[in-house]
Amino acid sequence: MQLIQRGLVCLTALLASASVFFSGGANHANIIGVQAASAPYLLGLGIADITGPVVETNMMGYASLAQVDSGLHMRQRSRAFIVADAANSSNRIVFINADIAMGDTGVRRSIVSALSEQFPGLYTNENIALSSTHQHSGVGGYLENLLPQITALGYVKQTADAIVAGTVLAVQRAHANLAPGKLSVGNTTVVDGNRNRSPSAYLANPAEERARYQFDQDKDFTLLRFDDASGNARGFLSFYPVHGTSIYENNTLVSSDNKGMAAYLYESSVEPDAMPGNNTFVAGFAQSNVGDTSPNTLGAFCESPGQPWDGQPCDFDHSTCGNKTEDCHGRGPGFRISDFESNRIIAQHQVDGAKTLMSQQLTPVTGAVKWVHTYMNMSFRSFTLPNGTTVQTCPPAMGFSFAGGTTDGPGAFDFIQGDNSSMPQNPFWEIVKGAVTPFPDQQQIDCQFPKPILLNTGFAHVPYEWSPNTVDIQMLRIGQFVILVMPGELTTMSGRRLREAVRAKLISEGVLGDNAYVVIAGPANTYAHYVATPEEYSVQRYEGASTIFGQWTLDSYIDKYSSLVSFLADHATGQPTSDPAPPEQTSKAISLQTPVVFDAAGLGHDFGDVLTDVRTSSPYTAGEAVIATFVGANPRNNLRLEQTFLTVDQLVNGQWKAVRSDSHPSTTYQWTRTSTILGTSTVNITWVIEDGTPAGTYRLTYFGDSKPLIGNITPFVGHSSNFTIS
Ligand SMILES: *[C@@H]1O[C@H](CO)[C@@H](O)[C@H](O)[C@H]1NC(C)=O
Ligand SMILES: *[C@@H]1O[C@H](CO)[C@@H](O)[C@H](O)[C@H]1NC(C)=O
Ligand SMILES: *[C@@H]1O[C@H](CO)[C@@H](O)[C@H](O)[C@H]1NC(C)=O
Ligand SMILES: *[C@@H]1O[C@H](CO)[C@@H](O)[C@H](O)[C@H]1NC(C)=O
Ligand SMILES: *[C@@H]1O[C@H](CO)[C@@H](O)[C@H](O)[C@H]1NC(C)=O
Ligand SMILES: *[C@@H]1O[C@H](CO)[C@@H](O)[C@H](O)[C@H]1NC(C)=O
Ligand SMILES: *[C@@H]1O[C@H](CO)[C@@H](O)[C@H](O)[C@H]1NC(C)=O
Ligand SMILES: *[C@@H]1O[C@H](CO)[C@@H](O)[C@H](O)[C@H]1NC(C)=O
Ligand SMILES: *[C@@H]1O[C@H](CO)[C@@H](O)[C@H](O)[C@H]1NC(C)=O
Ligand SMILES: *[C@@H]1O[C@H](CO)[C@@H](O)[C@H](O)[C@H]1NC(C)=O
Repeated sequence: MQLIQRGLVCLTALLASASVFFSGGANHANIIGVQAASAPYLLGLGIADITGPVVETNMMGYASLAQVDSGLHMRQRSRAFIVADAANSSNRIVFINADIAMGDTGVRRSIVSALSEQFPGLYTNENIALSSTHQHSGVGGYLENLLPQITALGYVKQTADAIVAGTVLAVQRAHANLAPGKLSVGNTTVVDGNRNRSPSAYLANPAEERARYQFDQDKDFTLLRFDDASGNARGFLSFYPVHGTSIYENNTLVSSDNKGMAAYLYESSVEPDAMPGNNTFVAGFAQSNVGDTSPNTLGAFCESPGQPWDGQPCDFDHSTCGNKTEDCHGRGPGFRISDFESNRIIAQHQVDGAKTLMSQQLTPVTGAVKWVHTYMNMSFRSFTLPNGTTVQTCPPAMGFSFAGGTTDGPGAFDFIQGDNSSMPQNPFWEIVKGAVTPFPDQQQIDCQFPKPILLNTGFAHVPYEWSPNTVDIQMLRIGQFVILVMPGELTTMSGRRLREAVRAKLISEGVLGDNAYVVIAGPANTYAHYVATPEEYSVQRYEGASTIFGQWTLDSYIDKYSSLVSFLADHATGQPTSDPAPPEQTSKAISLQTPVVFDAAGLGHDFGDVLTDVRTSSPYTAGEAVIATFVGANPRNNLRLEQTFLTVDQLVNGQWKAVRSDSHPSTTYQWTRTSTILGTSTVNITWVIEDGTPAGTYRLTYFGDSKPLIGNITPFVGHSSNFTIS
């Protein structure tokens, strides 16, 4: 961490001068003789490493106590996109696409504070959006509210710090390369990339409304292309809804799921020789109205060996097998091979969509850069529907079906999806739930109807807030392109209603013309769980049960976002009045994760010694796995951010050259604690040789850091024997 902080200080000093240089954007454009019309924006793109502790830490997404990480498949990264108006560069926005499960108030607060301190007046609480890829194989423990911390045994500061440091670095890098450029936008369809995992809830929406759409999922893939002033592509930001659940709940290697994989595949196709994360072309695959989407496109089937329903599709309404959810599993397109293969395929579908658009002439983006941000307190928020009826949202609560999970990650016990019964539930849970969160009063029961309340989180303030009552509302406008930054997971139909309502308002208020292009990004900024339509809410599948503010949640968002469009007008100034920001929680955080006590190499060994070597007797060929086991140390001692735990080195002209890092999908790093008492551990490094790998001499290198009982953490290096590839 020290290294990183020192790096940050140097970089900040460097960037301070860059920001002076670019602060008068229009002047800068004149200096290098670029017409404002051909380069109407200043664009900056940056990428940085945000990977937290890759072992002994709960993973984020599936809320599974058993899913504790044991190594690394691919590093998590933040990608930052800055757009400033070249005519007045103080008008700028920052969109961050972080390879994490969801945005978070605490993490965002730290990022905003660091950036607004370093760039006063330029980057603020209002114009920074922290969105997520909604992946489920990253490091957990960073969220500020209690509910998502439970399986992580509380707050993990090391995870949150890594996300903050890496994200700030990504924005600094983007800021440092701000340069005149242009933007264009287009869309295509990606049909095979997603599937509805709650079609029975979707069917509750009105038939006339459903008839307007060909699919029960959004198949539109939207891409905002970033070019330099001469028209050379510098990167893009794309939007497509598909859950980051390609890699299953039983995986324990930290990874990026399908959106991070898509980014790697695209970026490495542009710069094949750059190490992952060391690229300059930045490919952003952002999440959209993801709520009821699944990457498990073959559907959900029963894995119930010995039962008559084994191998059959799960029950349509409740996604059960023999009345239980545990055995019902979604299958990805690579099901016959592995979930990692499914992950690659879903990533490739998105890459193909991006390539289609990047090879076309897209519609130029023109116009002002604007933003609006406010906080909305959702506890008993009263507002008027378009038909004049006054309704209200509720303090947060999770329904029984929340615990039923989904076909992407089934729940446990006897919870099922689609439980909207007001009858008494399983008597055991009826008692236990009161021990966990306060029993709901009649007002809350009525407000949340027909949701049977399992966790009354809005009334649980001990030891700190379980769920957010207050959410971030934010919109970013870049010319005719508007991003609705959403603090939750909207279902397909929720997303369509919100986009349509806001777009109509932008046009009717004269903010934008008929070319207005509206997209949804999220879950961003804070995590307020799901947003189902009122009709889907009535069915109470997982998404409805997790729509925490009651049946009018979506309409409250539509009301609020629509009411703010005037702040995006060309000459609008200021920001709306806001509800109070949610209170800070992190300082009260409880953490039950034990720190690293010490590492030992074991008798007769040194750290980095090879215990099981590569094969030296005969050459390897493509497709084979090269494996070596080393005397290891706990990687929590040093996250090696912006670095690597391993390299594959090739002998080139008598010199070793690193050709793979721990972020190549072909390599894995696995750590095993062999004795807690003795402090010993081993590390396996594996490389599956890709087709087309040049013949030659190679070795595997392991980079570790050991912690003695007393004294400083010390780095060490281990090498396997040389091996050849024919
Ligand atoms: C640039 O925009 C900012 C913020 O909108 C405004 O306060 C400032 O007056 C503008 N500067 C010029 C030169 O128009
Ligand atoms: C895709 O682009 C077409 C025009 O090129 C537009 O009519 C359509 O609304 C766009 N799709 C979305 C989801 O905005
Ligand atoms: C994870 O579960 C899937 C499906 O149930 C199974 O095919 C796979 O082998 C499991 N993977 C591991 C690492 O246990
Ligand atoms: C990253 O790229 C830069 C410039 O292309 C190069 O100098 C540097 O060695 C690279 N770093 C790594 C770790 O590959
Ligand atoms: C599932 O529940 C239904 C209705 O309660 C019952 O008829 C059926 O026998 C149950 N099936 C199994 C396998 O338990
Ligand atoms: C949100 O609104 C509720 C109900 O009006 C109120 O009790 C609560 O204090 C508010 N929360 C904040 C953080 O302002
Ligand atoms: C307005 O719409 C809501 C939601 O569809 C409905 O519950 C309510 O009855 C409607 N009110 C009127 C006056 O039609
Ligand atoms: C509960 O869900 C069923 C469909 O599964 C629906 O027919 C019924 O109307 C719902 N009940 C309520 C109170 O909304
Ligand atoms: C590590 O590799 C050794 C063989 O070198 C193997 O026996 C062991 O199972 C591997 N450990 C893990 C966690 O995969
Ligand atoms: C591996 O190759 C390097 C470079 O040729 C050489 O210096 C080294 O001795 C070799 N290692 C072994 C164990 O043969």
